[in-house]
Amino acid sequence: GTDALVDRFGRVARDLRISITEKCTLRCTYCMPAEGLPAIARDDLLAPAEIARLVSVAVGRLGITDVRFTGGEPLVRRDLAEILRQSRAAAPDVSISMTTNAIGLDKRVQELVAAGLDRVNISLDSVDRDDFARLTRRDRLPDVLRGVRGALAAGLAPVKLNAVLMPETLAGAADLLAWAVEHGCHPRFIEQMPLDADGHWTRDDLVSAADLLGVLGERFDLVEVGRDDPSAPAEEWLVDGGPQTVGIIASVTRSFCGDCDRTRLTAEGTVRSCLFGDDETDLRAILRSTDLTEDERDDAIMVAWQGAMWAKPLAHGSDSPVSPDAFAPTARSMGA
Ligand code: GTP
Ligand code: 5AD
Ligand code: SF4
Repeated sequence: GTDALVDRFGRVARDLRISITEKCTLRCTYCMPAEGLPAIARDDLLAPAEIARLVSVAVGRLGITDVRFTGGEPLVRRDLAEILRQSRAAAPDVSISMTTNAIGLDKRVQELVAAGLDRVNISLDSVDRDDFARLTRRDRLPDVLRGVRGALAAGLAPVKLNAVLMPETLAGAADLLAWAVEHGCHPRFIEQMPLDADGHWTRDDLVSAADLLGVLGERFDLVEVGRDDPSAPAEEWLVDGGPQTVGIIASVTRSFCGDCDRTRLTAEGTVRSCLFGDDETDLRAILRSTDLTEDERDDAIMVAWQGAMWAKPLAHGSDSPVSPDAFAPTARSMGA
């Protein structure tokens, strides 16, 4: 039967995010230290069949309807197409998407779509080459733009562009919005959360949604239209009368945790019910245990996952009724 993933606050998880590697081709300052994240040993990473097994349980028995692969950078995994193929076979009817920096995507996109990929969100913080290189510590804007074009050419619409708001790229936000509109992409600007591996985040340096609206408002006429659905992180604004919109993900100044519908898996096969909880529940040990039958194993995965969901904290924000000062750096960055 199907038992939903529910927490103590009545939230239901429908959206599963699966990190598949800690490695990345960029080093965005808001995510990773210059030297990259500590390497995960090969045997500690989930294999394609293990990922597909968890997808099967999540979709078949726990009510998940959207699966998203993230990283690190998913394209770094050479067996990405195999992960997609086996996950698609395990869950023929759900949406399977990926959040990527798009480097090399143009060369692999057709294979990935054939393997079952429905949609991509692409991280792109600036269309100014120097700003991009400074923020990502790599001079690879042309590769990223080629990846975006490849995704569009492969029919992966809508392509969303994610831009984390940083002081050094704020002045270029209007150019990025113009580029996105011109290329038929959906831009979303994101408030930086304290998930950078260096731990440099401070509330004082935060570029807020209000700051962004000030900058964009000098060039565009923006009218608020709200969220596409209640659990969507982005609030949409009509650009110059539409039809295009720009999304703003105000995770810090307008926290949306009360409507959260997420659960996440790390590349090592642990459940993290919230980005801002350090608690992790190990599913890999269950997957790899040799003294359970397949049915017993799936049952044990369900029970452990439901337990992790039950422990999910209410919120992370400084507006949190649970933990007023809890919006603090975590042990893991967004990228792990
Ligand atoms: P869509 O289904 O296309 O809307 O994807 P998404 O927005 O859920 O995923 P994506 O990977 O593109 O993430 C975009 C931004 O959403 C991230 O940069 C984060 O700021 C925010 N986000 C993603 N996951 C979480 C989460 O679990 N909690 C919070 N607070 N924000 C998140
Ligand atoms: N705050 C907000 N968003 C972040 N991302 C990575 N680190 C952070 C952070 N500290 C974004 C990436 C990617 C998405 C999955 O999360 O840019 O688009
Ligand atoms: Fe959900 Fe936690 Fe993200 Fe808030 S921080 S939206 S509760 S996963």
